[in-house]
Amino acid sequence: MSLAQTPPWTPRPARRDDGAVIAVHRYAGAGTAQDLLAYERWVAPRIEQGGYAGVLAEVDGVVVAGAGAVMLDWGPTRGEPIGVRARIVNVFTAPAWRRRGLARSLVQALISQCQARQIQVFSLAATPDSAALYAALGFMRYPQEMILRG
Ligand SMILES: CC(C)(COP(=O)(O)OP(=O)(O)OC[C@H]1O[C@@H](n2cnc3c(N)ncnc32)[C@H](O)[C@@H]1OP(=O)(O)O)[C@@H](O)C(=O)NCCC(=O)NCCS
Repeated sequence: MSLAQTPPWTPRPARRDDGAVIAVHRYAGAGTAQDLLAYERWVAPRIEQGGYAGVLAEVDGVVVAGAGAVMLDWGPTRGEPIGVRARIVNVFTAPAWRRRGLARSLVQALISQCQARQIQVFSLAATPDSAALYAALGFMRYPQEMILRG
């Protein structure tokens, strides 16, 4: 998109009552009713209390994309005294709106918003569709990380 063009979408911060749509983004349309409800109930109060920052994009009042950041109470590390990190989650663009720069612009806005709160470290789990986007934004693979499930 050229700089002279105005995007057809309007970005706005997520609100408490956006929990249901954010849950749909989380599971990219594939969550069970139970998954969706559980996430909606988890995210709604966190939006209100600041533990979750979200940005959504609307076209004609309909949400077509979103991105979120969960604030992680990580603790200070060397050179990072604030002790809060952000996990980027729930990045989703409705299929009809893909490859127009929506996810890029929402994730950039979210990162700027977090940086304004002095957050310096961001992590995420990329999908095959999103890895190039995050690499272009400066994210790097971090092979030191390990996970145990169950
Ligand atoms: C991944 C996703 C969020 C991208 O949304 P989008 O609004 O289409 O992304 P953008 O238009 O901002 O794309 C920015 C860049 O990301 C990369 N990208 C986006 N979709 C891609 C795809 N399907 N395959 C390869 N690269 C892709 C490209 O580099 C693209 O830039 P370009 O269009 O100039 O080549 C969207 O495809 C989606 O919702 N997928 C399902 C959910 C998902 O995977 N979410 C990511 C969770 S981490």
